[in-house]
Amino acid sequence: MESKKELRKKILTIRNKMEKEEVENNSKLIMDKIVGLKAYKQSKVIFIYMDFNKEVMTSNLIRHMLAEKKRVVIPYTDTVNTLIIPSEITEEADLQLNSFGYYEPKEILPVSPEEIDLVIVPGVVFDKNLNRIGFGKGYYDRILKNLKPSAKKIAVAHDFQVLDEIPAEDHDVKMDMIITESSCYGKDIDL
Ligand SMILES: Nc1ncnc2c1ncn2[C@@H]1O[C@H](COP(=O)(O)OP(=O)(O)OP(=O)(O)O)[C@@H](O)[C@H]1O
Ligand SMILES: [Mg+2]
Repeated sequence: MESKKELRKKILTIRNKMEKEEVENNSKLIMDKIVGLKAYKQSKVIFIYMDFNKEVMTSNLIRHMLAEKKRVVIPYTDTVNTLIIPSEITEEADLQLNSFGYYEPKEILPVSPEEIDLVIVPGVVFDKNLNRIGFGKGYYDRILKNLKPSAKKIAVAHDFQVLDEIPAEDHDVKMDMIITESSCYGKDIDL
């Protein structure tokens, strides 16, 4: 089997070549599916990533969540300690573009992982057994393992990011569901 590193490189090369319009179309299909899930409807506190490059876009869903009065929590990346601080936002004005080119909270308003009901997880490569490979720093593995057991982890990706089988290590946290523009993977499709 190819290594995590090789797989990341291969899939990122494909993803980086995507047309903006394709990313937008896929993102709309994926976010519409999320809004229809019971797991989404029942969640009060949702932790969601801020997309960059050609990742599945989350901005429309975030707007929808704020309008629906969900509590919206986004990552603040503490690169010194290699950890994510989940931080609450209440309006779009709470966001600012960082030097990497994605949005972060202007101010850190920490939310304890136990408060989170649902996480929308980004990633680079996935497989049909719900394994995930990210950017290779373990940021998401570290935060996901601290969630309460009832919290759901839903990953989103473009179709080509989901392979049949990828390597997984003991510290890798599995997803509950992976949603792409044309498929849903997971034990229970409506969690
Ligand atoms: N729970 C953890 N506690 C401590 N270190 C961890 C944990 N999870 C992962 N790591 C470390 O992080 C490094 C990268 O892990 P891995 O290759 O799984 O990254 P990844 O899942 O692709 O990245 P990310 O989660 O940032 O998207 C590894 O060296 C691993 O030992
Ligand atoms: Mg991992």
